[in-house]
Amino acid sequence: MTAQPEAPIRIEALPQHVGQDVTVEGWLTGVRSSGKIAFLQVRDGSGFVQAVVAASDVSESTFESARAVDQEAAVRIHGQVKADERAPSGVELTVTALDVVASGNTYPITPKEHGVDFLFDRRHLHVRHRRPWAMLRIRDVVERGIHDFFHEQGFLRFDSPLFMPTSVEGTTDLFEIDLFGEDTAYLAQSGQLYAEAGAMAFGKVYTFGPTFRAEKSKTRRHLLEFWMIEPEVAYLDHAGNMDLAEALVSYLAGRVLREADAELSILERDRTTLEATAKGGFARLTYAEAIDRLNEEGGDLALPYGEDFGAPHETFLGDLYDRPVFIEAWPTNIKPFYMQPFDDHPELAKCADMIAPEGYGEIVGGSERIHDLALLEARIKEHNLPQEAFAWYVDLRRHGSVPHSGFGMGLERLLAWFTGAKHLREVVPFPRMLTRMYP
Ligand code: 4AD
Ligand code: MG
Repeated sequence: MTAQPEAPIRIEALPQHVGQDVTVEGWLTGVRSSGKIAFLQVRDGSGFVQAVVAASDVSESTFESARAVDQEAAVRIHGQVKADERAPSGVELTVTALDVVASGNTYPITPKEHGVDFLFDRRHLHVRHRRPWAMLRIRDVVERGIHDFFHEQGFLRFDSPLFMPTSVEGTTDLFEIDLFGEDTAYLAQSGQLYAEAGAMAFGKVYTFGPTFRAEKSKTRRHLLEFWMIEPEVAYLDHAGNMDLAEALVSYLAGRVLREADAELSILERDRTTLEATAKGGFARLTYAEAIDRLNEEGGDLALPYGEDFGAPHETFLGDLYDRPVFIEAWPTNIKPFYMQPFDDHPELAKCADMIAPEGYGEIVGGSERIHDLALLEARIKEHNLPQEAFAWYVDLRRHGSVPHSGFGMGLERLLAWFTGAKHLREVVPFPRMLTRMYP
């Protein structure tokens, strides 16, 4: 009778198996050997552990194969779990047997320094390494946090289409899709307009999906394809909308601090702004106040009233605080058509952008929406938007239209800040940029 193979234990669960014989299935990130002992660095996706092979504990052939096993070889290791205070995971494996399941075959990403292009040309392999691993684990923590946050507050997830008949955020950065020469569609820049229909049906909804911007900018803050979270709430006003955005971002910062401590350590992330953010209490400046600060303290960043901010202006404003800051009440003429104006100041929109600290720029943009039929129709005309394509959106204002608000949070912008990434491409598994479509 052959013994049943033991079920493998994931590395993250090893501390619960101290003293036991276990099997770990994973890959080798490196080997070091000296004399009669070999140290295998093993990863299995859930964590990293050192496996120690002593010549005296195993057969000669096992010891030789341990010394010879190459980087990224797939390995199945049998051994005993030992507590080890010096190990980051708190445990080590004492190997009793080793199967090499597949060779690593001259793995290209070696422990030496590689350039960014070299790594991103091999992103299909690069995602195995510690830094991307930590970043993408934090991405997962944040994604789960988003769903939990909204569901705990009674929101319904409402999926919006990715093929759209029109633009949402202006026509300059739309990706056009030719529909067999018979029609044109566009890739979604935002799910907002559909979320507004959802808010009137379900009260509180959020969308969470990919969005596309044909922005020819090569900055570290722009992707062609990024993920956006867009809550939309009926009967919510502009101030309540800022409260909601603040609650979401501070909740997510707290969750990452609690659930991704090891990943933040791998990234050597300074936690100061995350800790401040988790406490809430974000400052709220009006656009006019922000312009004043730029003109008084910004030196070269002085800007005439009425101009939109560039990346350096956002960085300056973000650096005034240790946590995000809202810039609200923007001139309507530099914002999209759908924003509700203030009753007493119709030249200003009931909107707010949230700027992250540490140079990560705008992470959230949102507003109260126009709920009045005539005003919305007038704005669509002023903006020269195609009336037929917006007919359904306008129709929402005919049937029980109420004030409502929402915002869009750029997932990669938030994650770049949380993780301290140098560029948004680091926090998405396969980034899509002007300069990168492969792999
Ligand atoms: O400010 P934006 O353009 O707002 C909207 O699309 C609204 N319809 C959202 C809403 O109210 N429902 O985009 C929202 C956020 C920005 O604050 C930014 O974080 C992110 O999306 N973003 C990008 N992220 C990565 N790459 C790009 N090219 C981005 N463009 C916007
Ligand atoms: Mg914006």
